[in-house]
Amino acid sequence: MTPSTPSKVSQSPLAIDVMSGLKQDPKSLPSKYFYDAKGDRLFQEIMHMPEYYLTNAEYEIMDTHQKTILDTIGRDTFDLVELGAGDGYKTKVLLRYLVEKGIDVRYCPVDISKSVLLELENSLKADLPDLAFHCLQGDYFDMLGELTYRSETPKVILFMGANIGNMPKKEAETFLARIRETMSPRDYLIVGFDLKKDPEVILRAYDDPAGKTAAFNLNLLTRLNRELGANFELDAFRHWETYDPMTGATRSYLVSKRNQTVTFEALKWSVHFAAWEAINVELSQKYSIDDIHELAGTAGLTPIRHLHDKRKYFVDTIFKKKE
Ligand SMILES: C[S@@+](CC[C@H](N)C(=O)[O-])C[C@H]1O[C@@H](n2cnc3c(N)ncnc32)[C@H](O)[C@@H]1O
Repeated sequence: MTPSTPSKVSQSPLAIDVMSGLKQDPKSLPSKYFYDAKGDRLFQEIMHMPEYYLTNAEYEIMDTHQKTILDTIGRDTFDLVELGAGDGYKTKVLLRYLVEKGIDVRYCPVDISKSVLLELENSLKADLPDLAFHCLQGDYFDMLGELTYRSETPKVILFMGANIGNMPKKEAETFLARIRETMSPRDYLIVGFDLKKDPEVILRAYDDPAGKTAAFNLNLLTRLNRELGANFELDAFRHWETYDPMTGATRSYLVSKRNQTVTFEALKWSVHFAAWEAINVELSQKYSIDDIHELAGTAGLTPIRHLHDKRKYFVDTIFKKKE
């Protein structure tokens, strides 16, 4: 896409979402647009920072509970559908185990980012040559439609990395209820939740001293400059992070350091920012086990097992459809 084809650009999902988010009061931008090629690379760096405990915790869960996962599923043949798969770093631990055990598994990763899916595809071919897989590029909200096919093969749906935390609780309920609609009674859903913990540990993960999270968040503005012909000056905005231990909400903001107007050349549209006005760019909701049970109840799901890391920072919960 180039900013020189205005009509096409202004009808793109990115343009529609950005205009609608920046016309709201307070302003917001969807976090799914963080993931262009540079955003994917920055996120992989974040995943491997010592402060970002989420990766190690969920890796440990996949490493130590792989047998429990397979025993719970109790099948030799299934499709493993992963929503927002990313580079599959942690999933590959489970996939390797399934291949070693001779399980007839077909892996179907879904991701909005073309570049990360391509990288995943190449690494699967190199690391797990015997694995059958089929990549699907798109928004997982849309891809859920594709999941409603009534395949004869049982499904295990994975939604890892605390991606569920990027949705407000009501949206998370609706999302899980939609997933439930695509499930048959023999299917399973595994969701990774980041748990409520020491607020300092949480804040450090999203506001690291090296400034990687700030660079990741600000890259969204670079993307809008490139793809929508905007003229955001990156040093006129700063990244700001908050954690509210009452609600469990971690929020990322981009704050305008001055009174300014940003023009989107490709959209023939401008937006004004008052000095210190904030754009809400990401929610990372933290849960307690009780919160998870409440969420499952409203979504029509039954939690079967909670799989923890040893510090109990994170949980992967296995669900079945409530009958
Ligand atoms: C926080 S990363 C987690 C990646 C992986 N699940 C993990 O645990 O490491 C989020 C991933 O979800 C993808 N993603 C975000 N929003 C999405 C959406 N609405 N539809 C499909 N993929 C999405 C991003 O491109 C990114 O690869």
